[in-house]
Amino acid sequence: MKNSKEIRDEFIHFFENKQHKVVKSASVVPLDDPTLLFTNAGMNQFKDIFLGKKKAEYPRTVDSQKCIGAGGKHNDLEEVGRDGYHHTFFEMLGNWSFGDYYKKEAISWAWELLTEVWKLPKDKLYATVHESDAEAFELWKTITDIDHSHIEYHGDKDNFWEMGNVGPCGPCSEIHYDRGDGFCHLGDDEEHECKVNGDCHRYIELWNLVFMQFYREEDGSLSPLEYKYVDTGAGFERLCHVLQGKTSNYDTDLFVPIINKIAELSGVEYQQDERGVSHRIIADHIRALAFAIADGGMPSNEGRGYVLRRILRRAARHGRLLNLKKPFMHDLLDTVVAEMGDHFIELKEKQAHVKLILKAEEERFNMTLDKGIARFNEIVQNLSGKEICGKDAFMLYDTYGFPMDLTCVMAEEKALTVDQAGFDAEMEQQKKRAREAGKFVLANENVDWVIFSEPQATEFVGYNSHKAVAKIQKYSIDDENNVRIVLDKTPFYAESGGQVADSGKIVNDECEIWVENVQKDANLFIHIGKLKSGEINENDFTVEINGERRQNIGRNHTTTHLLHKALQQVLGEHVQQKGSLVHPDYLRFDFTHFQQVNSQELKLAEKIVNAQIRACLPVQTEIKSIENARKEGATALFGEKYEDDVRVVTMGDFSKELCGGTHLNFTGEIGLFKITSESSIASGVRRIEAVTGKKAEEYIDVMEDEIEEFVRILNTPRKSSKEKLHKLIDENKKLQKELEKFKAKSVGSQLDEILAKSTEINGVKVVVASLAISDSKALRAIADQLKDKIGSGIGVIVAKVGDKVSVVTIVSKDLTSKYQAGKIVNEVAQIVGGRGGGRPDMAMAGGKDVDKIPQAVKAVPGIIEKI
Ligand code: ALA
Repeated sequence: MKNSKEIRDEFIHFFENKQHKVVKSASVVPLDDPTLLFTNAGMNQFKDIFLGKKKAEYPRTVDSQKCIGAGGKHNDLEEVGRDGYHHTFFEMLGNWSFGDYYKKEAISWAWELLTEVWKLPKDKLYATVHESDAEAFELWKTITDIDHSHIEYHGDKDNFWEMGNVGPCGPCSEIHYDRGDGFCHLGDDEEHECKVNGDCHRYIELWNLVFMQFYREEDGSLSPLEYKYVDTGAGFERLCHVLQGKTSNYDTDLFVPIINKIAELSGVEYQQDERGVSHRIIADHIRALAFAIADGGMPSNEGRGYVLRRILRRAARHGRLLNLKKPFMHDLLDTVVAEMGDHFIELKEKQAHVKLILKAEEERFNMTLDKGIARFNEIVQNLSGKEICGKDAFMLYDTYGFPMDLTCVMAEEKALTVDQAGFDAEMEQQKKRAREAGKFVLANENVDWVIFSEPQATEFVGYNSHKAVAKIQKYSIDDENNVRIVLDKTPFYAESGGQVADSGKIVNDECEIWVENVQKDANLFIHIGKLKSGEINENDFTVEINGERRQNIGRNHTTTHLLHKALQQVLGEHVQQKGSLVHPDYLRFDFTHFQQVNSQELKLAEKIVNAQIRACLPVQTEIKSIENARKEGATALFGEKYEDDVRVVTMGDFSKELCGGTHLNFTGEIGLFKITSESSIASGVRRIEAVTGKKAEEYIDVMEDEIEEFVRILNTPRKSSKEKLHKLIDENKKLQKELEKFKAKSVGSQLDEILAKSTEINGVKVVVASLAISDSKALRAIADQLKDKIGSGIGVIVAKVGDKVSVVTIVSKDLTSKYQAGKIVNEVAQIVGGRGGGRPDMAMAGGKDVDKIPQAVKAVPGIIEKI
């Protein structure tokens, strides 16, 4: 039996022998294409070629493309694991012709590979063609020896392939395999008839040959493409399933090792029937996660990240069903890497990083899961009927990551049901929001171009010079003289890889244009700016960028590479760039790390970078093949799409990175590097902001000025300022203490005065006084002391506290049966516009009429007498 590695290799070599260039799979996380959640077909990376925006480098290519089909129309996450062929992650084997061969070769080679190399029985194979495609039908009949009754016409639904609502498309021819009637699961239904593209599981599609020849316009109409293309896709997992004679994709060697590992970790044996759902789900999901995270994906609450988070949570949840309570996904990763890491080397390269992310995310989820169970119990407790509403079910799903099936199982245990329709409605809403967020914006949509000459790829000459003589190929202009200009060549760097665009001028005798921004549209550089004077014309222009600004951008870009390396040295190899902004004034660097970078670590990184600056390393750039660059250990960025030949930027022995940006010639030109801030931007992602060169100098100047200011205020030489500051703080503390003592003393002496003026009413000693004090807390202290000193008697103090009045009354214990402090205080308080009360022996009240304090004091004897 052939193993999966052999099958993949045989496919690729078969087409290599037919003059196809072997290309690498594109990243499964298409960071550069906002229209796509995940790469979901082999042709995604060739989209610009089909659209005529880019020239094909090779007329024929072949590869195995990593795809994720989660969250899409045809691949509902909830289906995965329930049958033998739904997956989140899958490989699509494909061969392409870009205006080279067409239907005849595509059909005959597919047939040759399936029947002659892989020796699949011919009587089990079926070919379908589009109802309009008599040519393909004839080709199947004449150039292959397929049973003629096995060639069938089908309609648009099955035999017209489209990339999306708008975009390249064409009729297709599919090859299906008959697994035998034992695979029909609808046999009990008398009406059922097994057929290709039918309802049952008997026939499966192996390979789709698309004859790409149209473009679907916005209005739904079709226009012919400039060239004719072949785009094919063969589901690798299914091919393995058929070629290895299995009954399910999960029984192939692509999944068995992972499933075995799950069984080993959980102690729960795998079963091929529905008892094996959890094993299958986990085995499927770990593959998707491993590839997506290795390609730069990150679980989060939005877009792609959200899909990944859901996939992980679903797997973790099913782990619990197998009694796996601790994080386990990172343990499975090693099996995936062992099986797939030879062909997809990025898996090996990023293994440590993926492991960290998986573990951290799963730990977090375990906490959420416990919280979710508590939330679920709360919902159940507050339930009036017997059904959990769709909103709550969706909240559990959305906030706590509970898949619907989990909520249903838990509800069932409590004899409850869940409102599925309500849940679906909430989900539809959510999907709508996601679709709207994912809409594609083409930078140059709806622009009226004036064309001088049909634009060719813009030649970038800006690595070595700041100036060029160029011609305008096309331009657009609006009423406010905002222009977009496409030149045949340019020294302007277009924004990419985090580096901002250059600014500068495009000038000749007749006109002057200021450029503020430059964007790339496929291979054209669009210079965006303002026409300052004159009229745009077809003559030669002098095109020149702002050189000083470029130099500052270079400082921050070169430093970004040094910082990346320094952080790896200080924090560890798991540090990976997650994003970067290279600006003339500063740099921003986002990277993976799981805790705050402390000040010592920051200092150390800063010191390393500054040492490399002083070493004045030469910065060299070289174009080489991606294989050689990798062999030399060049750092490749996540999710970046690299061509076969890459630009490698080397700084002495210290740093080697793949990069298309502009750099300095020597690190020494940076001058100085200072980190200005460190913060967290997402779970597991930290951000450092920093300045270089003149900006670093300014940053230090500002700090210096601040220190000067302190020193000036301290009025002492700088050398002794620290000492003086300490001394001042100590002195201040001492003075505070002394002040407290004085305050207490003065209260004591005031009290003595008050007591000396006591009167007697109905044979009871009564003390009344008015005071001005700083806060009512002090008043309470005075009242306490008064109570101690009065012996037997009643004390009433009316105090002015700021612009308010506080009244306190104390009554010695022997008198409280007759005189209650609360009552007295309340009556006094009413005179100053307030109220209050309290215990019989001590009570306080507030008031606001400061003017009435004397009146209140006078009234006290009367109030007591009355009692
Ligand atoms: N692009 C075609 C598909 O994905 C081959 O099926």
